[in-house]
Amino acid sequence: MSRVRFGAYLLLLAFVLIITGCSNDPGEKTANAAGKKTTGLSADEISNEAFKDQFPLQYNSYMKNKKMEDTKYNGSVKRSKYDPDKEPLLPILFNGYGFATEYNEDRGHVYALEDIRNVKRITDKSVGSCYTCKSTAVPQMIEEMGDDYWGANFNQVIWPKGEEMGHSPIGCSDCHDPKTMDLRVTRPSFYKALEAKGVDTSNPTKNDMRTYVCGQCHDEYYFAASNSEVIYPWTKGFKPEDMYEYYNTIAKENGFEKDWVSNISGTPMLKSQHPEFETHSSGTHGKAGVSCADCHMPYERVDGKKKISSHWWTSPLKTMQTSCGQCHGDRDLDKLKDRVLEIQEANVSALHDAQNVSTSAHYYVNKMITSGVDQAKIKEAQEFVRQGQWFWDIIAAENSSGFHNPQGSMDSLRISIERSNKAIQIATAELVKKGVNLEELTNEIEKAKQAVFDEKVNEKKKDAAVNSYFPAQAPVVPAPPKK
Ligand code: HEC
Ligand code: HEC
Ligand code: HEC
Ligand code: HEC
Repeated sequence: MSRVRFGAYLLLLAFVLIITGCSNDPGEKTANAAGKKTTGLSADEISNEAFKDQFPLQYNSYMKNKKMEDTKYNGSVKRSKYDPDKEPLLPILFNGYGFATEYNEDRGHVYALEDIRNVKRITDKSVGSCYTCKSTAVPQMIEEMGDDYWGANFNQVIWPKGEEMGHSPIGCSDCHDPKTMDLRVTRPSFYKALEAKGVDTSNPTKNDMRTYVCGQCHDEYYFAASNSEVIYPWTKGFKPEDMYEYYNTIAKENGFEKDWVSNISGTPMLKSQHPEFETHSSGTHGKAGVSCADCHMPYERVDGKKKISSHWWTSPLKTMQTSCGQCHGDRDLDKLKDRVLEIQEANVSALHDAQNVSTSAHYYVNKMITSGVDQAKIKEAQEFVRQGQWFWDIIAAENSSGFHNPQGSMDSLRISIERSNKAIQIATAELVKKGVNLEELTNEIEKAKQAVFDEKVNEKKKDAAVNSYFPAQAPVVPAPPKK
């Protein structure tokens, strides 16, 4: 697409915004002091249903998030990530952590509360921070409880309080001011992190907001060591290597070293979260100023004539005409879709390679430990295991299978394979000195992978990852339910 077309698109966008901005929504009846139309709803309204009468079109569109339908690599069906066609080695790679017990593909916003309530990663020790991206009650809770919110007990304090407040899953008030319907960011960690990076958040443009409302939840984060506060690791940049450097310096200095210790290799590990915001921002579309809403909330005609922003947040591959056609109207959309699938196929295939090497690296280090190799050498190999896993996990946890930044994702997977191989090299040199039979070792690794693959009960897969040849290395710690 040429710059000219993109410029024309921005003009068109401005025009659509002007007409929708002045639309005679029945709800815009009362005027506030500034002369701006308001809804008459309370500023504290958190129930989706309260918006239904005034905004039936957006509400009905929102209800489409119930639909469950998969695309080739993604989609909305509730499925385990351990499925053979997804990432069957995860119960080994997350061994010792809750993600080896249950880990599902993401699905529609309307399911957020149900899914957090049911996932087996939530335990009696889970904290409030786990609830942050799921419920409309969060902004008010943070206001009331201050920094006590983050570390409050999930089961005993946070969930009952949310129910009492009448929480909805991710809803209108999370992105809109209920009085004016202006877009807003409601998760304080987001602006805090952007400001720490030197971004001025006092006056974001409308186009920024069309990404920020999503960016407040769809990103990489960790829980602060001191009070479990949600923190985004961005001060060194958005790329996987920038965030890794942040974790190995600033986060460590502030007392956060790891999410858990691998039960296979004894390595202090990091778990990545869904970094859609970071990945998109450093990709082709993000750099060209395309917003999340451009693709995920295309304008559509409903009721025969009215134009609204789609509130069905799903795969844009289901709505190529409205999502992509607005800018790529000069291209054959079937071919454009094939191009997306090609990008994804290459990425997913490289991801599987990276996970495979990463898995082997964990087992090599397990063998170093049980063969009595020198501690310093084990630590050296563990640092490469940690890096190897980080650089694929940050891509695996991202939900577009490479599309949001095809080149950046491939780069990260390449680094992953290189680091995991480095760990294997260090281990091999030491194991040879100890007279370990390497052929037997590689056979045992393949057997362990196969055993995890063959175990049909998802929760038991993690147990198949350890055996008498590869004994468990660390106590199992329950994980907070990051998604
Ligand atoms: C240029 C268009 C485009 C932009 C901009 C874009 N996405 Fe996507 N997104 C896609 C495509 C294409 C997929 C892959 C869908 C598939 O595989 O079915 C996707 C996938 C996703 C998924 C997973 C969907 C699923 O079915 O599981 C999420 C979540 C997501 N994007 C969030 C975001 C967020 C948040 C932003 C902004 C930070 C963003 N996207 C920006 C096109 C876009
Ligand atoms: C995840 C964020 C998000 C949520 C949740 C959300 N919206 Fe929106 N909404 C947007 C964005 C982004 C726009 C586009 C605004 C723009 O570009 O000016 C929008 C636009 C609108 C508009 C303006 C007209 C239009 O269609 O563009 C209305 C009215 C609206 N939303 C109502 C609702 C209602 C009602 C709900 C709850 C059922 C809701 N929204 C939930 C992000 C959200
Ligand atoms: C308050 C936090 C929050 C906000 C704001 C938010 N999301 Fe989400 N989003 C989530 C969570 C949590 C899930 C996974 C829900 C589940 O699996 O139960 C999700 C899932 C998704 C999916 C996957 C749906 C599927 O069918 O698989 C897409 C696509 C998506 N979000 C896009 C967006 C876009 C685009 C925006 C901004 C307009 C946005 N989200 C704003 C938290 C949020
Ligand atoms: C708001 C405008 C906009 C939207 C919406 C948009 N794109 Fe793009 N797209 C661009 C721009 C700008 C580029 C940068 C490169 C260029 O000039 O061709 C680009 C580049 C691409 C490329 C890389 C070039 C290539 O041919 O390999 C692909 C693939 C692509 N877009 C697919 C999509 C898909 C699929 C969608 C819908 C899910 C989409 N785009 C939605 C503006 C957009």
